[in-house]
Amino acid sequence: MSIEKRIFGSAEAYTITNGDLSVTVLTFGATLQSIRYKGVDVALGYNTLEEYETNDGYLGATVGRYANRIAGGKFTLNGVEYDVGCNEEGRGHLHGGRIGLSHKIWKAEAAGKNALRMTNTLAHGEEGYPGNMEIAVIFTVEEDTLRLTYEAKSDRDTVFNPTNHCYFNLNGETGAPILNHLMKVNASAFTPMDDLLIPFGELRSVEGTPFDFRMAKPIGKDIDAADEQLAKGAGYDHNFCVDGEGLREAVVLTSPDTGISMTCRTDLPGVQIYTGNCTGDRAGKNAPIGKHSGVCLETQFYPDSPNHPAFPSATLKAGAEFKSVTEYIFSK
Ligand code: BGC
Repeated sequence: MSIEKRIFGSAEAYTITNGDLSVTVLTFGATLQSIRYKGVDVALGYNTLEEYETNDGYLGATVGRYANRIAGGKFTLNGVEYDVGCNEEGRGHLHGGRIGLSHKIWKAEAAGKNALRMTNTLAHGEEGYPGNMEIAVIFTVEEDTLRLTYEAKSDRDTVFNPTNHCYFNLNGETGAPILNHLMKVNASAFTPMDDLLIPFGELRSVEGTPFDFRMAKPIGKDIDAADEQLAKGAGYDHNFCVDGEGLREAVVLTSPDTGISMTCRTDLPGVQIYTGNCTGDRAGKNAPIGKHSGVCLETQFYPDSPNHPAFPSATLKAGAEFKSVTEYIFSK
């Protein structure tokens, strides 16, 4: 069990190792740069800070204050309308705004021999959101489990929806797409979206649709099916409503190439499954990255929930303690 620190441009990289699992987290964006399981790096990333600063795609980043989209960059809370801006050309507000948690430098401190506590603050009014916030993400490596624990507090009522935007490829970083991965999703419904990729309030049954992953099937099996929702996202880019409550299984991914499986568990209501449909070609750590090079499992409150009172609420009350856990459990 160890934590090693090294310089990463003007930021730092911390590698937490425990048994077969070794995870590198950057202070830039509290970003998961690498997840090595039994010698295979299953997370996409870059070798330099500049690439993290300038490329799109949020590779491995901690995303917030509000992950995914807020329609028109506006929502109302306690009768006050907040304008958080539209940082995504032609669409709306994405992943917390121009400089969200993903693009900030975090403080890191060891929390024992196998955990790293990363902290940051957000100011009241920053990117248009209310509330001064203190935020922590604890990255714990416990045998075959990587656990992300999110903690936060705000001095005013606000909305808070953090996630991690890691692109997984259990084939390893070979440039091979994730379409052959078997995926099982514990969700009987998903939130269909409009032309701007924003849910409009409906919870739609997955039954009889390409979104039915209740029995494991290859990600690529139905990805090109004639389906209006898949066409909008150019593949899967949808919030699945995870069945049940509390810390429970959301997704199981398996690579037939390496035999590596990963179970993602979360206590959050949804998971955005994004199959890297719009990832432009670029260099990765060890192999080129492009369309379908990785799949993101972004555990979250549903996108745009501040504008949908019927969705589980992402409101964080002043002074309340936010705590949420997402786990990635590896096996082979
Ligand atoms: C969104 C995608 C977006 C991607 C990268 C995902 O969370 O759902 O639409 O392209 O992030 O920004």
